[in-house]
Amino acid sequence: MRRPFVAGNWKMNTTLAGGQQLAAAIAAEVGSSTTVDVAVCPPFPYLTAVKQSLGSSSVGLGAQNAYFAKSGAFTGEVAVGMLKEIGCNWVVLGHSERRQFFGDTDELINKKINAVLAEELGVIFCVGELLAERQSNQTEAVLDKQLTGGLAGIDAAHMAKIVIAYEPVWAIGTGVTASPAQAESAHLFIRQWLAKRYNQGVADGVRIQYGGSVKADNAQELLSQPNVDGALVGGASLTAEQFLPIIRAAVQVAGSK
Ligand code: 13P
Repeated sequence: MRRPFVAGNWKMNTTLAGGQQLAAAIAAEVGSSTTVDVAVCPPFPYLTAVKQSLGSSSVGLGAQNAYFAKSGAFTGEVAVGMLKEIGCNWVVLGHSERRQFFGDTDELINKKINAVLAEELGVIFCVGELLAERQSNQTEAVLDKQLTGGLAGIDAAHMAKIVIAYEPVWAIGTGVTASPAQAESAHLFIRQWLAKRYNQGVADGVRIQYGGSVKADNAQELLSQPNVDGALVGGASLTAEQFLPIIRAAVQVAGSK
């Protein structure tokens, strides 16, 4: 059984006070429950304060990016060790916005994944196709390329620390959600890819989140799909009113799947 994992990617949003309030509300909802894994991924400057707001709850803390070097002359970058030191549990890597706007290539993402694994933190590794790629039937080829590049040289044992987030780019921030069938089909492809590249045990164990306009009203149906193990939520993770129902949907699904 894969425990559902709901993570909020706040992207470049919230204020310090707003982020703290949001984190406190999520912590109050989740408490010490472990039916579903929940994490929030605030902007870098708020990580420490948000960590405090999460208190002793089981809500995890994720960063939205990291650099692969341990330290040095890399102006503007953040090392994984620094994130570990302040209590981060997760690092989101390969997000389509990083790929699109900041030039993160499969090769660079692979180096970053290795750096996170070296510090024994968890990775949320994002993959997903553009609209034009879906329309030209390239979805599986794109996923294959991103998975092959991002996970190059990473052995089966390390896959226990990796969560894959399938985020079709055309569904991110657009209000257009992949249908449950479209999500399930891509997730099944990813799981079969993992079985071929590693083994069935790895494929059965790795959690695959769906991301792309997940909201309170579509979460339950998406999360009910056999190969959808959680959600990586952008816009709807920015208020407790929208995010808490998604967590509740995951809790319900966890009991029935
Ligand atoms: P939205 O939920 O705003 O579509 O964003 C999804 C996403 O990119 C999460 O990483």
